[in-house]
Amino acid sequence: MSKNIVIVGGHGHVARKLTKLLTPSHSVTSIIRTPEQVNDIKELSANPLVLSLADAPVVDFTHAFQGSDVVYFSAGAGGKGGEEMTKKIDYEGAVKVFDAIEGVQGKKPLLILVSAVDVRDPDKIPAHYNEEDIAVSNRVRKAIGVYMKWKYEADKNLVKRTAFKWIILRPGGLTNTPGVGTASIGRTHLGKTISRDDVALALSLLVDREDASGLAIDFVGGETPIQEGLDTFIAKGETDFLG
Ligand SMILES: NC(=O)c1ccc[n+]([C@@H]2O[C@H](COP(=O)([O-])OP(=O)(O)OC[C@H]3O[C@@H](n4cnc5c(N)ncnc54)[C@H](OP(=O)(O)O)[C@@H]3O)[C@@H](O)[C@H]2O)c1
Repeated sequence: MSKNIVIVGGHGHVARKLTKLLTPSHSVTSIIRTPEQVNDIKELSANPLVLSLADAPVVDFTHAFQGSDVVYFSAGAGGKGGEEMTKKIDYEGAVKVFDAIEGVQGKKPLLILVSAVDVRDPDKIPAHYNEEDIAVSNRVRKAIGVYMKWKYEADKNLVKRTAFKWIILRPGGLTNTPGVGTASIGRTHLGKTISRDDVALALSLLVDREDASGLAIDFVGGETPIQEGLDTFIAKGETDFLG
């Protein structure tokens, strides 16, 4: 069934790939922050809406989400603008979107949030991590600890919410290599990158998976066909957000 979909961070690399997968069957509104991106969005057969996550009030986002079935959050400061911008977009921007969804009248949309693998309390090492995972995790935290911290704060905020349904996808390091259609999904090890094509594919498949709500899904490079891996993960129903 055709759905009304809003993508926050609609001009991002993953978001544009996702838009291409969704527009043949669904109506997509892409929230972007600059009018210069309007034509790119129109070329993808989506409807551009200029709203800055940093500046626009919650109510503007509520208005944008009213009547939508699914909202994707795929925005991020991308390390630009230091900790201040990472906090503003990856955390405060995400919370703004959560609050905005709570303000929607009637049925609230399903939120599908793009987070990252290994986002967690740094003092709690997941039981399935091996020595290599711990080494990778330490290395990543040393390099982009600020990013991991604010993604964690956003996820912590989301997992407490019950007013609307949500799913968190937690990809590993993203690449621009062509997608392969396979991945390792759920309680993964760290270190294997994943193509943005494959992340977009997984996000597009989640559009119909309200049964995945309340789950955070680790998603890194691997051998399992993505549809099959998601089906297995959702049937198991064990979240990868471990606090
Ligand atoms: N890079 C990785 O290895 C990695 C790994 C795991 C998860 N992730 C996450 O995956 C998601 C998608 O990644 P990606 O590669 O597609 O990122 P991307 O290309 O950098 O896209 C992020 C989007 O957020 C938008 N944005 C930034 N500030 C904004 C604001 N004030 N208002 C509205 N939009 C704003 C950007 O707008 P502009 O186009 O105007 O800059 C951009 O379109 C991100 O949440 C990222 O944190 C990344």
